[in-house]
Order: sequence, then C-alpha cells, then structure tokens
Amino acid sequence: MNLEHKAEYERVRRLVEAELECCLTGEYPQRELLDAMRYSLLAGGKRIRPVLVLKFCEAMCGSVEPALDYACAVEMLHTYSLIHDDLPCMDNDDLRRGKPTCHKAFGERNAVLAGDALQAEAFYRLASSKRPARAVSNGQACAVLGEAAGAVAGICAGQYLDLEGEGKPKTLEELTLIHTWKTAALLKAACLLGLVASPVEATAEQWRGAGIYAQELGMAFQIRDDMLDQESTTEELGQPVGSDAENGKETFATLYGLERCRELVEEHTRRAKEAIRGLFPDTDFLCWLADALAQRKS
Ligand code: IPE
Ligand code: IPE
Ligand code: MG
Ligand code: MG
Ligand code: MG
Repeated sequence: MNLEHKAEYERVRRLVEAELECCLTGEYPQRELLDAMRYSLLAGGKRIRPVLVLKFCEAMCGSVEPALDYACAVEMLHTYSLIHDDLPCMDNDDLRRGKPTCHKAFGERNAVLAGDALQAEAFYRLASSKRPARAVSNGQACAVLGEAAGAVAGICAGQYLDLEGEGKPKTLEELTLIHTWKTAALLKAACLLGLVASPVEATAEQWRGAGIYAQELGMAFQIRDDMLDQESTTEELGQPVGSDAENGKETFATLYGLERCRELVEEHTRRAKEAIRGLFPDTDFLCWLADALAQRKS
C-alpha cells in the first residue's frame, strides 16, 4: 500500500464530498424528494468515478479545479443507477452503502423519482458549469455522459441485458458486453470528462489511452464486484452478499470460479496500466488506483 497515493485519494475524495454536501439544499415543498436524493448521494460511496474525473483533468493541466462540477455530475449519475439497480423490479436489494436502500427508506415511488432527478441534475451540472475554460467543453461533456448512460452502449443497455438474462447461462462474450456497458462505460466517461474539462486539449493518443485504461479498469472492477458478491460479508460490503445467486445471475464468478477471476482481474489491471504509460506527465497515481481497486474488499 503506497501511503502517499492513499493520502492523495483521501484528499481528492474529501474535495468531492465537500462539493456534494452543498448540492440539493434549500427549503422546498418537495423536500422529501430532495432528502431521498441526498440520502443516497451522501451515503459514503468510494467516489471512484469523481476521483477519476479530477485526476485525469489534473494529469492534463495540473489542476483539478476545472473538473469539479463534472466530478459531481458523474457521481450523481452513478447514484441514480444504484438507486434504480436496487429497486424490487431490478436486483431487489435492501442495503446499499451500509444503509437501507433508497426505496426501503423513502418508498418506491420516491426512489424512482430520486433516481430520475439525480440523472437530470447530472446533465444540468455539465451543461451549466462555468469552470472549464474551453467553450466546447460543456456540450462535449453532455455527449460523453449521455452515451455512457444510454440504451445503445451505456448503463441502460447493460442493465437491460443483465436483467433480461437472469436465469440463463452466458458466454464470455455476452458477459463481457454486459460488464462493458453497465460498468465500464461510466468509468470511461469519468476519465474522458477529466480530459474534456481541461483547458489543454487532449491528443488523439491521450483520448484513446484514457478510454482503454477505463475499459480495462471497468472489466477488472465488475469482475471484482462479482467475486465480492460470493466471497465478502454483508458487513464488509455494505450491501447484501449472494444477491447475484439469489437472482439467478450468471457472473464471472459463477462462470469461472474465484481463482480464475483473480487472474482475470490481474490481467485487465495490467492492461489498464499499460494503456496510459507514457501518455501523461505522471501516471503513478492512476496506476496505483488500478492496483488498489483490483484488491478492494468493498
Ligand atoms: C457499484 O459501484 C456498482 C458497480 C458498478 C459495481 P461502486 O462499487 O463504485 O459503488 P460505491 O459508489 O462505492 O457505493
Ligand atoms: C452494477 O451491477 C450495475 C449498475 C449499473 C448499477 P451490480 O448490480 O452487480 O452492482 P451492485 O453489486 O448491486 O453494486
Ligand atoms: Mg444489478
Ligand atoms: Mg445490484
Ligand atoms: Mg454486484
């Protein structure tokens, strides 16, 4: 464990936390809806996606500041996807981030609305940010996040295939596609949003390298998620273990077993690090992060 990088992760995570804390405050008649949004948003996730936004921006221009709104937007979109993922009509889980899921705490219709509204708020933040210096950034950011969230090659596509495939066996190709869309797509958007926010425009090689890093990181991340659903505990994970088995989901862990999954996570992590080597002035933190996520316990 590299303490310097861990401390840096904490520093950036706290920046994100402070920004998110200021969101969705104020007195409104729909306070309960805003409370449901804040309840899930501020429940203490790892904040990997906003940290990626900020660190890719910093890798480009030496500062995280231009990307702060984009970082919040990505975490809002991610939180929406978790709220909906936990609904009875989807994975039907009662615990998320160590707390009752949004629909358990606020009821199903408020959870649906809280998810919808967090997604809308995410795009509003991208479109209205005053932080990036380049005029084209906000429009480009909306396009990047829209693709990652959508039904063609994004979260909705992945979630559809994931749910539609319950109870059915899957091939490696099918599972890879599901993981690419439901998980890697948003991680890729996070990395690219960092480049979009930067006043220094990314080269084609940097854009491509960041995309491959995120795709490989995303595969490793979701395979690790599948493993943790089998080998972790509810206390450590902050969500129910065994949820995939209960829903009859084929995952990398059911298809290959934990030992092979460990090798696959290592392989994808190695490829992630390889993809950005030499492309940015300093890639040490991003390589450390890939390694840390490969070994994560929650
Ligand atoms: C959970 O994401 C959903 C997946 C894509 C596996 P995270 O593991 O990043 O969840 P939080 O944000 O830390 O709660
Ligand atoms: C995450 O997949 C997919 C999302 C886009 C939210 P999972 O359903 O495996 O995530 P967890 O295990 O509930 O966090
Ligand atoms: Mg799911
Ligand atoms: Mg789930
Ligand atoms: Mg899971």
